[in-house]
Amino acid sequence: MSDKKAFLECDGCEGKIELAVHSGSVGPDSVDITRLYAEAGLFTFDPGFLSTASCSSAITYIDGDKGILRYRGYPIEQLAAKSTFLEVAHLLMYGELPKVDQLDEFTDMVMHHTMINQSLQRFFQGFHYDAHPMAMMVGVVGSLSGFYHDSINMRDDAHRHLAAFRLIAKMPTIAAAAYKHNVGEPVVYPRNDLSYVGNLLRMMFSRPCEEYIVDPLAERAMDLLFILHADHEQNASTSSVRLVGSSGANPFACIAAGVASLWGPAHGGANEAVLDMLEEIGDASQIDKYIDKAKDRNDPFRLMGFGHRVYKNYDPRAKIIREVCLQVLEKLADSNNPLFELARRLEERALHDDYFLERGLYPNVDFYSGIIYRALGIPESMFTVMFAIARTAGWVSHWLEMLDDPKHRIGRPRQLYVGADRRDYLPIDQRA
Ligand code: CMC
Repeated sequence: MSDKKAFLECDGCEGKIELAVHSGSVGPDSVDITRLYAEAGLFTFDPGFLSTASCSSAITYIDGDKGILRYRGYPIEQLAAKSTFLEVAHLLMYGELPKVDQLDEFTDMVMHHTMINQSLQRFFQGFHYDAHPMAMMVGVVGSLSGFYHDSINMRDDAHRHLAAFRLIAKMPTIAAAAYKHNVGEPVVYPRNDLSYVGNLLRMMFSRPCEEYIVDPLAERAMDLLFILHADHEQNASTSSVRLVGSSGANPFACIAAGVASLWGPAHGGANEAVLDMLEEIGDASQIDKYIDKAKDRNDPFRLMGFGHRVYKNYDPRAKIIREVCLQVLEKLADSNNPLFELARRLEERALHDDYFLERGLYPNVDFYSGIIYRALGIPESMFTVMFAIARTAGWVSHWLEMLDDPKHRIGRPRQLYVGADRRDYLPIDQRA
């Protein structure tokens, strides 16, 4: 809390309204408007939260103009180069990088909660064989609420943490079971001696009739993508988790809300939409046509994987992913991958176009991630599911942070009402 102040003058207000200004550790100050309605009878209006901090948080810092992303103070570039997904999950949840024994304990907790109840396995049979895996994720993650009554007392710190571990641990198991349902293969049970990502790959791709050996390149590449997707402060899905959780709702229901929000093509669904777009474009000769479509206000087409609410500069995650994408494709002897080449040409063309430069539209995290996932054999419909598994670490960390704050309140936005004023009910035969 700083002693800075902001003053608001308005027609009909008596004198200037004094508002406190809070300073964070880094980043812009925030004007505190919590008393504005009580003291001046005014709401603020900010649809889409363009200038509104919905909470305070110590987890992730983004400077969108400079292209900076840090988890708990650590630059994403350092974590991507040196860390692992579970180490990052510990960092997000507890605020510090773990020591050896802490990481062992954390890994053990996650890897010993990977099983899902046998009754939950039966849920998948209720879905059509070609149901989108995100549809199954929304339903099955939410239904965990019916199974773990020993971890839903939100006033109990041990319950809260147990629920968080269960969620991080069971997301890969649910995701792999959804995939197996789509391809009509038997469910593969988790193997707790494998790494978090190695276990996921095995649950997705092993079959009872043959040995499956986890490819270390695929394991490292996916672990890295998971690090980059693990958190991104108050994005739509994290804000959904916080809003649902603010009412004291069951944690599994909160994370299901996050999964639902992530699914949209403007958010986590963009990685799937990028591949659809590249396939629609087809080859480099069509790039100009699609750039023109993206610039045309009367055409709903947007360049998927481009633009970001916060980054008005290159998304730092996209920079890392672009590099890794090239390495993965080279190692898989697929460096002439036509989609990667097309994506690079499209990026180059857009970054020389005033429309994109003036609006600060650069490739975001999803522009290249789908190409890597596809090179690793992950089907398109599972791209957003991969994002959801990784983001669960961020979602549970934000949910824990919110509930740890004794001052947290139910989230309840107000509105600018623009509907009809009071009017009287007319019998049906008298209506115009
Ligand atoms: N292609 C063409 N024009 C665009 C694009 C795009 N991808 N993104 C924004 N614009 C234009 C938009 O038409 C508007 O132009 P004007 O000022 O002339 O009206 C201007 O740029 C500002 O756009 P906006 O829609 O007001 O920006 P926003 O902050 O509300 O939306 C966004 C951000 C990410 C939803 C949007 O850029 C978009 O739809 N991008 C494509 C989808 C995508 O890649 N989403 C993944 C985001 S990163 C992963 C994640 O965090 O979930």
